[in-house]
Amino acid sequence: MDKVRMGIIGMGNIGKYHADYLGNKKVNRCELVAVCDPVAPLESYKPLKTFTDGEALIKSGAVDAVIIATPHFQHTTLGIAALNAGVHVMVEKPISSHKADAGRLIAAHARNPNVIFAGMFQLRTEPRYLKIQQLIQNGELGEIVRINWINTDWYRTEAYYASGGWRATWKGEGGGLLLNQCLHNLDVMQWLVGMPKRVRGFCQFGRFHQIEVEDNVTACLEWANGATGVFASSTGEAPGTNRFEIVGTMGKLVMENNRLTFTRNEADMLKFSQAAKQGFVKPDVWNIEIPFENAVGPHAIMVQNFVNAILDPASAGLIAPGEDGIHSVELANVMVYSSLIGETVELPMDGAAWEKKLNQLIAESKIEKKVMKVETADFVASFRR
Ligand SMILES: NC(=O)c1ccc[n+]([C@@H]2O[C@H](COP(=O)([O-])OP(=O)(O)OC[C@H]3O[C@@H](n4cnc5c(N)ncnc54)[C@H](O)[C@@H]3O)[C@@H](O)[C@H]2O)c1
Repeated sequence: MDKVRMGIIGMGNIGKYHADYLGNKKVNRCELVAVCDPVAPLESYKPLKTFTDGEALIKSGAVDAVIIATPHFQHTTLGIAALNAGVHVMVEKPISSHKADAGRLIAAHARNPNVIFAGMFQLRTEPRYLKIQQLIQNGELGEIVRINWINTDWYRTEAYYASGGWRATWKGEGGGLLLNQCLHNLDVMQWLVGMPKRVRGFCQFGRFHQIEVEDNVTACLEWANGATGVFASSTGEAPGTNRFEIVGTMGKLVMENNRLTFTRNEADMLKFSQAAKQGFVKPDVWNIEIPFENAVGPHAIMVQNFVNAILDPASAGLIAPGEDGIHSVELANVMVYSSLIGETVELPMDGAAWEKKLNQLIAESKIEKKVMKVETADFVASFRR
């Protein structure tokens, strides 16, 4: 094979976006040949093959690979169908609505290990996060002691929530702000500093909107080395803040307002404390501004990486193997689960317990979702810069 025949399943906001750059040949050695959606009009995509059923597209023989861009629950069922059919699959985030489903998807890949399974976690291509990763991995920050992410600029209106019947319902999405908007941030956080060992969530459900799922979150986290942190987010707060702060014994990294700064301690703060003869001194610091550009077409970079992995088995490997996607799902789930049971939860969490609780929330749901046609021209502005 010297070219990947690609299909897209789910032609809503993000499916159309993928189709645009693929149609504009932004991904080499890849040809968009088929699109699928049971509802969205597909006439304008002809002469591409069109389908109304995802499994029919997968089994058609028309594609070597698919991007699954449906609501989250179908990521699992369609992802498993693709893996079992030997069709390479890139699943949109989150890879599943809950941890137990993510486990099922990963198990299907384990049964079909020669099929490429990737997750769409495009923030991993952004140079600002790659620079943070480099500083952590090189030991420049020292040992990490605190991670705070105030991530409250995910403002969404009532019209946004009314734009899809599946949105912000237990049944349609399995969660809210964490699983939908914050998923990329949760992925980046765990990709940079690993998974915490304990989480206590304080989620508020429908605090700012007429929805049943969380739209305001504060969660306390603790890592195995004793590092602690807070993750806060909201879709109801304006203007909101996006400040990511990682503190290590060698200084403090702050990403805010499109700037990345490293306030570097001249000496390790713990060693300095142990050696100092005075009580109120602090290590001297250097203030370092770290320049970065934004990635150009991060989604296309991810799909190019996926295509390269399919065509060149000896290539550098996936930026985001599908398996990695279970971590962000688990973080999103545990923050909600901990809030609902009013307890700190040890990780790895019990995925079956959350699935049971989620099914109870779905069964008891009384929400009647108002759905209306909403202008989506501002969709691209929703990508986290
Ligand atoms: N990576 C990113 O930057 C990014 C951005 C937006 C959305 N997403 C993710 O993409 C997914 C879709 O989000 P969206 O905003 O495009 O939603 P959307 O509601 O605009 O589109 C979803 C589409 O899927 C279709 N669909 C539903 N069930 C289907 C099925 N079984 N087979 C085929 N099509 C089906 C719907 O008819 C709809 O057209 C979500 O999981 C979301 O988290 C990712």
